[in-house]
Amino acid sequence: MIDPDWWRQAAIYQIYPRSFKDSNGDGLGDINGITSKVDYLKSLSLDAVWLSPFYPSELADGGYDVADYRNVDPKLGTLKDFDKMLKALHKAGIKVFVDIVPNHSSDHHIWFKEALASAPGSKTRERYIFRDGKGKNGELPPNDWVSHFAPSAWTRTNNPDGTPGQWYLHLFAPEQPDFNWDNREVQLDFIKTLKFWSDRGVDGFRIDVAHALKKDMKRINASYPGIDSFSVGTKGTDILFDRNDVHEIYREWRKLFDQYNPPRVAVAEAYVVASRRMLYARPDELGQAFNFDMLNLDFKAAPFKKTIEQNLKLAKSEGSSSTWVLNNHDRVRTATKYGLPDGTDLNQWLLSDGKSKKLDIDLGLKRHRAAIMMMMGLPGCTYIYQGEELGLREVEDLKHEDLQDPNWARNIVTKPQSVYFKKERKTIQGVAVIHTEKGRDGCRVPLPWSKSGRSFGFGSGDSHLPQPNWFGEHSVEVEAKKKGSTLEMYKAALALRKKLQTSEDLEWIKTSSAEVVHYRRPNGWSSITNFRGADFTLPAGEILLSSGPLKAGRKLPKATTVWMMIK
Ligand code: GLC
Ligand code: CA
Repeated sequence: MIDPDWWRQAAIYQIYPRSFKDSNGDGLGDINGITSKVDYLKSLSLDAVWLSPFYPSELADGGYDVADYRNVDPKLGTLKDFDKMLKALHKAGIKVFVDIVPNHSSDHHIWFKEALASAPGSKTRERYIFRDGKGKNGELPPNDWVSHFAPSAWTRTNNPDGTPGQWYLHLFAPEQPDFNWDNREVQLDFIKTLKFWSDRGVDGFRIDVAHALKKDMKRINASYPGIDSFSVGTKGTDILFDRNDVHEIYREWRKLFDQYNPPRVAVAEAYVVASRRMLYARPDELGQAFNFDMLNLDFKAAPFKKTIEQNLKLAKSEGSSSTWVLNNHDRVRTATKYGLPDGTDLNQWLLSDGKSKKLDIDLGLKRHRAAIMMMMGLPGCTYIYQGEELGLREVEDLKHEDLQDPNWARNIVTKPQSVYFKKERKTIQGVAVIHTEKGRDGCRVPLPWSKSGRSFGFGSGDSHLPQPNWFGEHSVEVEAKKKGSTLEMYKAALALRKKLQTSEDLEWIKTSSAEVVHYRRPNGWSSITNFRGADFTLPAGEILLSSGPLKAGRKLPKATTVWMMIK
């Protein structure tokens, strides 16, 4: 019998399928690629993997633009390949989460095509959010709402006869039209999707932008110029985000999840304040919610400790367990972030191709290792993003022409510019296009599996995003053999974590330094992190593992975590 609570303290590894392993040399990671690496995943002592979208997609947003929710992208494989992969992972004792993207589909989804082909006001348009434009001929968007991938959240369509027509809402790229979640057909179709994957044996779901599904379209005339779901208040009555009625959806989903044995599990991606986030994690809803609080912090003792305390309390208050995340496919990798001065504007740094501030590579890696060990010892779920076990850094100098993230192409400002042409002796007036976001490609570069080779063992051809030369030294091949490598540390830590996992309690142990954070689990398993303090003399007890070398006389240097058994 599988423990129905298996998910409460799991170690879950995020696979970004297109960048994990390419089995057929076309440059895109694929399902068979994952299957070929099951042994590797097994060697990490994982409880589960979570697959970012692998569904048919035109890749306007890295696969988060889904054209068919119940299929595999032919570029990545087939449903048969998926079943094979699932079987192989299950055999290795690894459960599988898939990513559900319910806020929007791709504009290539059959429903969106049907909607475009039919008349305004028709039933097929009711599945999305179509509205007439403003202005004399409807030439202006219905309102000033903006999209995450700027600028407007509205795009105008053409009528079937080619004349300009209605506008549709998209909180993300224009290729990602938002569904109308007040429509029963939409609701039922997602139930069908969840059932489809659950019946195949999928164990859990990660719910993309779970806080945005319901909108109050009665207030379409209200201005909403920003798009910051963190500052929408706590009443649940905002126009676009974190509305109270969104929870009806998840209560219906829970009823389906509980029909399975063990019940299917789910985790919400909800970018809202911590207290509201926990509502998604209630036992009669999704059960868990991503806690991104740690991922926003500089490597400093006090904020880390405070964040941990707060989140443990919050999770408990809703009967859930906490989740911990330091890296994912949307954020600058911690091995880079922690090597930059505190408070660095990471986007600006990326826009400068890493030239605006000097990166301390050794410090970044040291702190990354210390932070992850501190995180892995905590009660709750540990999320690991592919490549962080290799200590991969952000690839900060990707060339502009290689960038794929819509954030790069769409976040632009234009500026009038005059250019003098010497030969012709004339000045031409033009416009300069300035990109204001470099985007998220730097953490999505395909994994290096071997020290050398065309794409460092990722595949036999070039990889869809180019890898830098230094990737070879961080490859699985090199790190698996190297003493003291980050991979070695992750393997040891995850294996120990599995063995020592205990009840969800935690006790804080006071230390003589404000820079040293020490907690202890009920069985004695203890984690001590020296963030930035002087060498710290460890208490008595057995030393199990440390993120970096200790100094003579049981001293813990700064930017190091040690696990001990303290009875
Ligand atoms: C989530 C995903 C992100 C995607 C967005 C739109 O935030 O993590 O990658 O761009 O949703 O689906
Ligand atoms: Ca491939």
